This record gives sequence, C-alpha cells and structure tokens, in this order.
Amino acid sequence: MNQEQLKHQVAAAALQLIPPDEVLGVGTGSTVNALIDLLHQQRIPLPACVSSSQATSKRLQDYGYEVVDLNSSGPLNMYIDGADECDPYRRLIKGGGGALTREKIIAAASRRFVCIIDVSKQVDILGAFPLPVEVIPMARSHIARELVKLGGEPVWRDGFVTDNGNWILDVHRLSIVDPVGLERQINQLTGVVTVGLFAARAADTVLIASPDGVVEL
Ligand code: A5P
Repeated sequence: MNQEQLKHQVAAAALQLIPPDEVLGVGTGSTVNALIDLLHQQRIPLPACVSSSQATSKRLQDYGYEVVDLNSSGPLNMYIDGADECDPYRRLIKGGGGALTREKIIAAASRRFVCIIDVSKQVDILGAFPLPVEVIPMARSHIARELVKLGGEPVWRDGFVTDNGNWILDVHRLSIVDPVGLERQINQLTGVVTVGLFAARAADTVLIASPDGVVEL
C-alpha cells in the first residue's frame, strides 16, 4: 500500500466522525485534500466550512462548499487536519505546507481536533521534521539568531510567503524533549507569529493509517 492509499484510508476513517449539520474546520495538505475529495465524492452535506488556507478554500469552493470566516462561524465542534510529525502524546509538528498560523487558530477555536496521518509521521520525539516558524519579515534574521541560541539550525524558506504575508524559518536539528516548554519559549520571541509546535493544544484524536488499517492513538 503506497502513501497516497494510506492518506485516502485515513481520510475515509475521519469522514465517519464528522458531525452532521455543523460547520467543519478543514486543514491543509495532501491528506486533507484526500478528505475534501471524499466529501465531494460521497456528497456529504455541510452547512459550511472554515478553512486554514487559501488552497483549501479553493478546493472546497470548487466542489461547491461554502467557506465562511471563523469570526462569523463562532466556535467549531470539529477541526480535521494532517500533521508532519506526531508523538505518543498527540503533540504535533505542523506547517510543512506553511499554513500553521491559521491551523493553530482553528485548532484553538475547536472543541475537538482530529488529526489524520499515515504511519510515517509517527515519532517518539518530535524534531526530525524541521520545525516551521512563521515570522514577521523584518524580524527574520533576529529570530534566526535567537533560534540558534535554542540549539536549532534555522533555514529560511526562501521564496515562500504565507497566506498572512509573512515568512517561514524551518528549524533543523532540534530534539524536542519538552514540546510545551519550547512552544512557549519560541512564542515569546518578538517577531514570531506562530511556531508549528502543537503541544499546549495537542490533537484530541489522532487517526493513523498503516498497511494493517487505521488505528486511533
Ligand atoms: C500544513 O501547513 C501542514 O500543517 C499540514 O497539515 C502538514 O504538512 C501535513 O501535510 P500532508 O498531509 O501533505 O502530509
């Protein structure tokens, strides 16, 4: 079974959890794209969605789903999104697609955050995947120096601009033994918009697809 099939499988499992007649929070990335395609193929009705990126909004709207602003939807009951890494405590690294800020906002505003991944994203300790940090452009070099002091090797995602008009530093060589502490530390650096550590607010449910099927963490 290849990775595309695993993504399809976990997206299909998540579909079963979607509450009827409620606005759904929808994340970003190839796993979520598989979910959106299934929503369309199976004609799942949704009153509306709140989306974590322009790319997701376009995909949803192309299928005829309405995308509304989080300010008008109010709190959400469910948010479904992928991740780049997940530890045994459902803490995540996200932002490989650069949508981390809106993802974190929707996760914060949602009662239940369902994360959908394939088995390749499961780790014991977060940090093998470079940690994305969204920064205000003028603060890039300053933040990079601060991240070096924390033991990382930041690399500017050159040429990439987030949906919010900001830049991303991908921080390599971090072994994140205290995800909540590091999230707090990086959040406090002036010029940081969002760090892609989802630890203080981890996922509530993680569905993991492997060739043996889908399991819940
Ligand atoms: C988007 O910014 C990310 O947080 C994605 O959720 C993450 O990169 C997972 O993407 P894939 O489903 O494409 O692996």
